[in-house]
Amino acid sequence: MFRKMLSYTSKGGKALIATATLSFIAAELLWAYFLYLAVSTMSAMLGGAAGGIDQILLWGVILLAAKTAFAILADLTKHCAGFDVTQTVRLKLIHKLKSLSLGFFTNERLGEVSTVIHKDVDALEGYISHFLSAMWSDIAVAVIIGVWLFTKSWLLGLCMVSLLPVAALALFLGLKNAQQAQKANGDNLADMASLFVEYTKGMPLLKAFPVASNCESAASENGAFRQKLDASVTAFGDSSRYLSKVFAAYTGRFAVFFELCSAVLFIVGAFLLQSGNITMSVFLYFIIFSAIFYKPFAKMELYFLEYVKAGDSYRRVASITEAPSVRAPQDPKRPAGFDIAFERVGFSYDETAASNGSSAAITARSGLGEGGFALKDVDFTVREGSLTALVGASGSGKTTVTNLLLRFWDVGSGVIKIGGTDIRAMDYDTLLDSISIVMQNVYLTSGSLLENIAIGKKAAAREEIIAAAKKAQIHDFIAGLPDGYDTLVGENGVGLSGGQKQRLSIARALLKDAPIVVLDEITANVDPLNETKIQRAVSALAQNRTVLVIAHHLRTIRAADQILVFDQGVVTERGGHQDLLARGGLYAALWEAQEKAVGWKIA
Ligand SMILES: Nc1ncnc2c1ncn2[C@@H]1O[C@H](COP(=O)(O)OP(=O)(O)OP(=O)(O)O)[C@@H](O)[C@H]1O
Ligand SMILES: [Mg+2]
Repeated sequence: MFRKMLSYTSKGGKALIATATLSFIAAELLWAYFLYLAVSTMSAMLGGAAGGIDQILLWGVILLAAKTAFAILADLTKHCAGFDVTQTVRLKLIHKLKSLSLGFFTNERLGEVSTVIHKDVDALEGYISHFLSAMWSDIAVAVIIGVWLFTKSWLLGLCMVSLLPVAALALFLGLKNAQQAQKANGDNLADMASLFVEYTKGMPLLKAFPVASNCESAASENGAFRQKLDASVTAFGDSSRYLSKVFAAYTGRFAVFFELCSAVLFIVGAFLLQSGNITMSVFLYFIIFSAIFYKPFAKMELYFLEYVKAGDSYRRVASITEAPSVRAPQDPKRPAGFDIAFERVGFSYDETAASNGSSAAITARSGLGEGGFALKDVDFTVREGSLTALVGASGSGKTTVTNLLLRFWDVGSGVIKIGGTDIRAMDYDTLLDSISIVMQNVYLTSGSLLENIAIGKKAAAREEIIAAAKKAQIHDFIAGLPDGYDTLVGENGVGLSGGQKQRLSIARALLKDAPIVVLDEITANVDPLNETKIQRAVSALAQNRTVLVIAHHLRTIRAADQILVFDQGVVTERGGHQDLLARGGLYAALWEAQEKAVGWKIA
């Protein structure tokens, strides 16, 4: 476990921990040496020898100065080691999170990740900077002092260690209990954090339903949610109190052992001194140095409890750093062209969640994947430069197809190829670089509009960004803002409408200039004027590219080269608009229903 924890430090960090430990040892031994000189001189004086006080004073000053220097060095390096850990772990987490499949990022996990990044990383830092090097040096010093005392009197030495096995047993027996209490407390905290994330994210919903936001009615779903949140806060409070009780009982019990040890040592020592078996100086060595010898043992329960806490935090950090990443190929292949082929693709979220280590409970709780949704035998090809539309009822699996193409999840069976190459054999970055995606929910980062579009391409020139915005039909809107392209958006900036966000996201895609474009229902909820603008922007984007478009408005995809109709995870019909109408199947029914709706609206 120590070794695993240390794997989170850089090379420099390990050197810092070693330096801190050695400095602590040096400081402790220098002080012990001073005590030794003082006791020896004192017992010599008691035996009748004259002088020696001046020398002791001189040595005292020198040794104390050296000890202080080492103590300062130890203090400095141990803190730097702690900071090294926080930095290394956080960088590792950032890197790791990006490599995980989207299956990992459930709502529940979002709260957990933020707890890990803050609380658990800090706990590791605290342990490494305040306890680890101090513990190792205390143990090293105790061994040195212990061996030396044994050479002075093995009998008193035996007395000194006599109760240690009992203390070790008590420590061991308390281990499971403390670990369990700590784990329960940590898990409760993570649960509470996840529910808070859900609670804050769901605020618009709670406000939209005043009855629910009063939250007294457990009958409503939101009232039940609030109750769940209340219960999680109470559970965390209860487990924290229980944890303090366990720890306090432990600390109290443990202190008694060393008081007993000292008493035994004193009584036996006095007896041996009286019978002439040991000298006065040996007796004093034991009385004084046994305190140093006992130090790590007396503090062991503290070290141990901190170890339990840090171990628990480590477990949570490792649950992220060791989660299975999107597997990278050993010898990545480049695709020959950009046609897309799905070959007998099968996939289920439930199975993937299980193999990702995320509990099925999460899926069940979020209400997703009910009835065990699965893509079955999905088989189609999209010629390079052509446009394929995916249509079908809500929940039929259209977005899932695009998720698989981007390797947000990996296929359960079958294979997806781009340019004849299995996408799993491609370098992941190359894959992501070759696809632009425009989705219904556009994520804006905090920053200016310019920066938000520039996400499409690293180091894009301002003119390039503006050209993309023009093609995406968003330039006029941006130019009309007081700060233009430098207007801040995101949490603290202006808000954009759904249609504006979508055109911004098309501008990103145009800037990225990837050969494959995926459009997911981007015109579903916008007004006709916006829709026309978006259609124009999309036409610019679709030119000379391989396009997969998911559409609810069938009118928008009449000209598609190929239309795939999805029904419960299966492609049931395929072909051009006219062919499908002529067939009189699901597509024809959907078309008819939509045409009727349009007619009804006009009438
Ligand atoms: N992250 C997920 N975890 C578990 N199940 C999921 C997840 N995402 C989607 N599903 C389930 O997979 C099924 C297909 O979803 P998908 O998003 O592919 O449908 P869709 O055809 O895009 O629907 P819509 O037209 O409403 O966007 C649904 O039953 C959905 O509940
Ligand atoms: Mg969808």
